Amino acid sequence: MPKLITFENYTDMCKKAACIIASQIIMKENSVLGLATGSTPIGIYELLSKWCARGDLDFSKVRTVNLDEYCGLPAGHDQSYRYFMNKRLFDNVNIDKNNTYVPNGLAPDANKEGGNYDKLIELLGGIDLQLLGIGHNGHIGFNEPSDVFISVTHRVELTQETISANARFFNDISQVPKTAITMGLRGIMNAKKILLAANGESKKDIIEKVLNGRVTPKVPASVLQLHPDVTILYSKA
Ligand code: GLP
Repeated sequence: MPKLITFENYTDMCKKAACIIASQIIMKENSVLGLATGSTPIGIYELLSKWCARGDLDFSKVRTVNLDEYCGLPAGHDQSYRYFMNKRLFDNVNIDKNNTYVPNGLAPDANKEGGNYDKLIELLGGIDLQLLGIGHNGHIGFNEPSDVFISVTHRVELTQETISANARFFNDISQVPKTAITMGLRGIMNAKKILLAANGESKKDIIEKVLNGRVTPKVPASVLQLHPDVTILYSKA
């Protein structure tokens, strides 16, 4: 069962998450980190950036694979997840950018790109620590509620709920891409350790379902109940 740690505030949650990620890097300098986007990890990346800037953390041998990317957005687009990762973390730490991977949202065949991405994760030796956020509908990466768990990295049609939730980052809801490419649930579940961070009252119900509800593809994150090493960090505010 996932272990739940609850915090009174976002700052404390980020500190804990950043400490867990930092200790992973300290224990294994060439760790493969699975990384997430969204608003929740921002404070975590800020701390990691700060610790690296003052010389307490060394990213020089770290490899990273990101969960997902919007289809149709070039890497330079300010809402692409590649851009987000560069700005929030990679530009601020001593990582070799050649060792940072984000699915290519411009790939002509997203499912083929997915197959290559899965091979890449295998070649890297698998993910040591996967950081996840969670959508209100239980999506992880962009694995949306569905009738089946999809194991491979694949192209996905975003739900209206996800499009609306992510509209806050765009000038207008019509600009939110309708499709994305996401790591599948096998890639996530094969990670040696998983750290899911969620904050705010609006995520309370979904965290409860993930922990205590039925394991079902209608709530993709419920599959985490079947993983042997999951920590969920939840901050109330
Ligand atoms: C997006 C990302 C997810 C993320 C989710 C939640 O949909 N694809 O990986 O977990 O947003 O974002 P937030 O942390 O902003 O609530």
